Amino acid sequence: MADRILVVDDEPSMRRMLEILLRQEGFEVRAAQSAEEALAALSRTSFDLIISDIRMPGLSGIDLLRRVRAEGPGAEVVLITAYATAESAIEALKLGAFDYVTKPFQVDELLHIVRNAVEKHALQEENILLKAELSQQAHFGEIIGGSPQMRQIYALIERIAPTTSTVLIQGESGTGKELVARAIHQRSARGSRPFVSVNCGGIPETLLESELFGHVKGAFTGAYATKKGLFDTAHGGTLFLDEIGEMSPLMQVKLLRALQERRIRAVGATEDHEVDARVLAATNQDLARLVQEKRFREDLFYRINVITIQLPPLRKRRDDIPTLAQHFLQKCAAAGDRPAPSLTAGAMGLLESYAWPGNIRELENVVERALALAPGERIEVSHLPEHLLGYKMPAAAGEMDIPEDGFSLPEAVEGVRAAYIRRALAMEEGVMVRAAARLGISFRSMRYFVKKYHLQAREG
Ligand SMILES: Nc1ncnc2c1ncn2[C@@H]1O[C@H](COP(=O)(O)OP(=O)(O)OP(=O)(O)O)[C@@H](O)[C@H]1O
Ligand SMILES: [Mg+2]
Repeated sequence: MADRILVVDDEPSMRRMLEILLRQEGFEVRAAQSAEEALAALSRTSFDLIISDIRMPGLSGIDLLRRVRAEGPGAEVVLITAYATAESAIEALKLGAFDYVTKPFQVDELLHIVRNAVEKHALQEENILLKAELSQQAHFGEIIGGSPQMRQIYALIERIAPTTSTVLIQGESGTGKELVARAIHQRSARGSRPFVSVNCGGIPETLLESELFGHVKGAFTGAYATKKGLFDTAHGGTLFLDEIGEMSPLMQVKLLRALQERRIRAVGATEDHEVDARVLAATNQDLARLVQEKRFREDLFYRINVITIQLPPLRKRRDDIPTLAQHFLQKCAAAGDRPAPSLTAGAMGLLESYAWPGNIRELENVVERALALAPGERIEVSHLPEHLLGYKMPAAAGEMDIPEDGFSLPEAVEGVRAAYIRRALAMEEGVMVRAAARLGISFRSMRYFVKKYHLQAREG
């Protein structure tokens, strides 16, 4: 469909000229002889671009621009004026005009601006559509979560995947950094080529160098054969450098050089060779702070940090906990070839209120463990680890909240009881009589609850 342009000018010859010129360029053109007429046309039809004179009897081009912008995004506006003063031009841009031209103008100059404006408009529409689409989604490929924070991340991934930019993915342990790196790779033109992941922490410097860049035979003791580096393995694909904050100063220099020159030198080699790997890096440290503390090179930081993705910790997007818990429940149950049990409201409440220092990885482990402990169709509070229960205990009535969907007082009470019993047993080295005495309950009750909650305890 041709892009639609509305030409607004009180001067008939000018209107005519623009109409003919723009039609020749393949645009669909309408003309109006005043801002008022233009507004009437805009109320009936949508346009991609409005080209308007500024000085007209009645409403001016600036007034028209103001009205159009007040309606929200919509058409781009280019203004034409014979009386260009710096102020009116700047005012036009401030008010959201795409650009302006002064009469008399060169045809090429105008067409250039028109094409750019139309292109910008198309991109904007695409972006709005994309955002609307993503805003419905509770997942993005394998990445689960429909919270606003995650949706923003999905939109960002979608935007940056096709580029070749280096991306720094920051986030606490277990927030899904590697998952995001893989999603970027899969959605890039390199998706069918290798994705190579390297953990830069915990590998000694010399070993990391030969891992990344390769080595030639005889380069060092034990180098019996020539070996390709991971940069070479990732050729045409993506190299994921995990825990980049752990890299030694010397390796930082070498990596910087590889990124800048797109060439590497294998250990023991005399010549460089070209590599083409898109680099994605991740860290659970605050890299900017490491730079301040002179523990990470500033130049490398800027080279890597072209685009940053900050993954929020799970406790900052609690809305995603039920979706994630259900997801892992289905996954683990399917792996164990059994139907997925349901989570009781009390158990879900505990999951939702816990702080999750280990983030999604910890949640996955907790669900897996609960599934192993719960033989039946329900996962209850007692199938969850002790430290979750401890966290749930409300210190004051003011801190208790009742979730909108599904709450059970008996289960909540059960959770609190289990937490106190665990704590008392821990204080008394698992001796049931003494723990019972601490809590003011009978030995028989204690024995009953120990069994019910699968606790470790001793008779005497
Ligand atoms: N949003 C998510 N949806 C589904 N699974 C997820 C999500 N985020 C993380 N996971 C899962 O949690 C686990 C940890 O994720 P990942 O390895 O990507 O974390 P990380 O940020 O790289 O952690 P670390 O810093 O400890 O290396 C993986 O099993 C991953 O599949
Ligand atoms: Mg990781």
